[in-house]
Amino acid sequence: MKYDVIIIGSGAAGLTAAISLAEKHSVLVLAKGSLTGGSTAWAQGGIAAVLDAGDTFDNHIEDTMVAGSGLNRRETVEFVIENAPEAIERLVQMGVPFNKDADALHLTREGGHSHRRIVHVDDATGWAVQEALLNTARANPNITLQPHRAAIDLITGKHEEKFSGAGHIWGVYALNQKNGKVETYTAKATILASGGAGRCYLFSTAPRGATGDGIAMAWRAGARIANMEMMQFHPTCLYNHEVKNFLITEAVRGEGGHLKIPDGYPGGGTRYMPAVDKRKELAPRDIVARANDHEIKRLGLDYVHLDISHQNADFVRRHFPNIYDKLIGLGIDMTKEPIPVVPAQHYTCGGVLIDLNGRTDLPGLYAAGEVSESGLHGANRLASNSLLECFVFGEAAARDIIERWEILEDVPAIRPWDESRVTDSDEEVIIKQNWTEIRRFMWNYVGIVRTTKRLERAQNRIELLKQEIADYYANFRVTTDLIELRNLLQTSELIVRSALERKESRGLHFNTDYPNVIAQVRDTILVP
Ligand code: FAD
Ligand code: SIN
Repeated sequence: MKYDVIIIGSGAAGLTAAISLAEKHSVLVLAKGSLTGGSTAWAQGGIAAVLDAGDTFDNHIEDTMVAGSGLNRRETVEFVIENAPEAIERLVQMGVPFNKDADALHLTREGGHSHRRIVHVDDATGWAVQEALLNTARANPNITLQPHRAAIDLITGKHEEKFSGAGHIWGVYALNQKNGKVETYTAKATILASGGAGRCYLFSTAPRGATGDGIAMAWRAGARIANMEMMQFHPTCLYNHEVKNFLITEAVRGEGGHLKIPDGYPGGGTRYMPAVDKRKELAPRDIVARANDHEIKRLGLDYVHLDISHQNADFVRRHFPNIYDKLIGLGIDMTKEPIPVVPAQHYTCGGVLIDLNGRTDLPGLYAAGEVSESGLHGANRLASNSLLECFVFGEAAARDIIERWEILEDVPAIRPWDESRVTDSDEEVIIKQNWTEIRRFMWNYVGIVRTTKRLERAQNRIELLKQEIADYYANFRVTTDLIELRNLLQTSELIVRSALERKESRGLHFNTDYPNVIAQVRDTILVP
């Protein structure tokens, strides 16, 4: 099946690119599972942009660089932040019903921001954005939306009928999740917009499909991957026996919420962040997540408390209607009592290395959004800069493809998927066990606080699993679970290798064997 451009992913990055490209080209958007299954639909807090007269681009740039511990690429930071107001305006035009304060957009605040600059739709911004993008894409005859297709591998030179040696990417092989057949999709340009790799960890706020597929596919095809050790842990994921991955937005702290030791423990009912950082609960995420982790381990707690019950109850319900309803359903009234929270994996700062046009190392392959490493986030992403990156780089990749269309090469004859693997696996249970094992050792050995010994333990386990999973993949018919397991292991290996390479502690990467920042250490870049 041939299109001008293929986009792998139907979240903020993928649909932004599709809508811009469709002015000139036929575009296919693939999604694993439903079209709303990525992180975009789950985003709560909002989107950062300089929109207040008292704020400046320089302030936002400075906050982003400070949160990122200076590992950010400054030209990317400037590029994204200066394009933010225009990106928000495009969303307004598409019908995103951002909250307003009189005639202006209402701006909330989150950790690491020196000003109020987060536009939002209550506490469910992502759903509103996803809906507006999907409605716009659905109305465009140049866009084909194809859910339930799990991309397996990018089509490279080795899949050409006659090897050209061009090193070009020509599209993707994808599993039709409805009928189990593998389909061949070709295009002059392919954009990876497949999101992050949060599910490498046992506890994550990310959806089930965040298994690092795009990062693993790009690596296997020969692209460089950068800064994978920079895994972001959100300080406040709900602690609950029934609901494992529900985020309590940082905006709760932005609107006055305090972190406290639970009653019944030494210091019970008191705030601990004022002693940790002068920005208190609104310090950047790496600092607050480490502080929560420290208190939990120090006192042997199951959770810490996030308390906004001192604010007016109407104000709380009005600002956080979805979180309020969700918690009420679980028997917690956030207007009257504190919320039990724990840190959980939240965002993949590293990824496929791209330039300001979204180009990867490989001709014909672009990347945008959480799958990529653009240089925006450095060693720790500033809250609400992620959706922004999706809009700016989705647009940048689309613009570059349109401008370079004539010089992009035509697709040669491509071999279809090798259908010789026809045996169904008889040991599905092993896939599930391996999956759980990876997520558990990544959580225990490659989490918020690391040591070289623990990282090496994780590496040893990865080595043991590699052969087993490779045999499995070589011998059995592919399934979504197998595709994801293979990618989960590949991505975990990249995280551990990167963490072992970084001989310092900076931002999200904290190794007690190398506790200091070393100014000369820059990006961790892995070359296939
Ligand atoms: P996603 O939205 O994750 O979409 C990935 C797409 O790729 C999906 O369509 C998926 O089906 C598809 N895909 C994946 N693998 C395959 C495959 N093998 N084959 C085919 N398709 C595939 N950021 C902010 O800036 N502000 C916030 O308020 C905010 N809140 C958040 C709240 C939560 C709970 C979470 C988890 C994240 C939040 N983030 C927030 C981060 C932000 O939501 C994500 O970084 C962003 O939405 C990523 O968008 P994306 O387009 O890159 O990928
Ligand atoms: C949140 O609402 O706390 C998440 C914001 C983000 O991940 O940027």
